[in-house]
Amino acid sequence: MKFLTNLLLFVSYASAYTYERLNKNDTVFVIVDIQVGLFSIARDYDAILYRNAIYAHAELAKTFNTPMVLTTSGQGGPNGPLPADFTDMLPNAPLVQRLGEVNAWDNEDFRKAIEATGKKQVVLAGITTDVCTTFAALSMREAGYSVFVNAEASGTTTELIREISNQRMRDAGVQVLSTFAIMSELMRDWRSTPGAAELFPFLDKYYPAYTMVARAHRAAIENGTVITGEDKLH
Ligand SMILES: *[C@@H]1O[C@H](CO)[C@@H](O)[C@H](O)[C@H]1NC(C)=O
Ligand SMILES: *[C@@H]1O[C@H](CO)[C@@H](O)[C@H](O)[C@H]1NC(C)=O
Repeated sequence: MKFLTNLLLFVSYASAYTYERLNKNDTVFVIVDIQVGLFSIARDYDAILYRNAIYAHAELAKTFNTPMVLTTSGQGGPNGPLPADFTDMLPNAPLVQRLGEVNAWDNEDFRKAIEATGKKQVVLAGITTDVCTTFAALSMREAGYSVFVNAEASGTTTELIREISNQRMRDAGVQVLSTFAIMSELMRDWRSTPGAAELFPFLDKYYPAYTMVARAHRAAIENGTVITGEDKLH
C-alpha cells in the first residue's frame, strides 16, 4: 500500500507541470489602455524605462509579424489617445475604443477582434497592471486563452500593487514575464527567422547590454589583439 501511494505521488509529481511556450504562429499581442493621459499613473518604473518597454512590446509584434489588437478606455477624456507611435508602427492593428467598460473583455468588439485573429496565446500589456491588465487577463483565462503578461510594459502606481496584481494573475495561470523572455520564447533559436539578423536591431534599441557586447566581439574579430594580462586569464 505504501509502495502504491509513493508510486502515485511520484506519477503526479512527474506530470505536475507542462511548460507552455509562446509559439509565434499562435500569438496575438494586445495593448490595453496604454494611453498618453494614463502614462503618468505608471509610477512603479522609471518613466524612460517604461516608455521604452511599451514601444518594445509593440515592436515585438511588428518584428514577429503577429497580429496586434489595441484598445482604449474613454479616450475622448483625460485618458487621451494611444501614443501615435503605436498606430504608426502597427497601421493594421484594430483599435477598439471602449466608452465605459473597465474590463476590455466586457466589450463585444474587443472580444470579436481577439477572436478574429484565431490565435490562442495572448501577450498582454496595459495601464494599470491591477485593473486594465489584470481584469482582461483573468477574463481571457476564463475564456480559454493562454495569457502571457509583459510585466515591463504594464504599469501601475506602486510596487506593492504590481506584486499583488501579478500574483493574482499567476493564481489564474497567467504567465508573467519580461520583454526579453517574450522575444526569446517567440524566437526559440538564434538561427530562426526572425532570429539574430532581425532581432539585433530590436535588441540594440531595447536591450543594449546584448548588442554592446556584440559590438565588442565584432571589433575584436575585425581588429583585435590579446593584450598582456588577458592572455593569463583562464
Ligand atoms: C510555425 O509555422 C511554420 C510554418 O508552418 C513552421 O515551420 C514552424 O515550425 C512553426 N513554429 C512553431 C514554433 O511551431
Ligand atoms: C587596428 O588596431 C591597431 C592597434 O590599435 C591600429 O594601429 C590600427 O590602425 C587598426 N586598424 C584598423 C583598420 O582600424
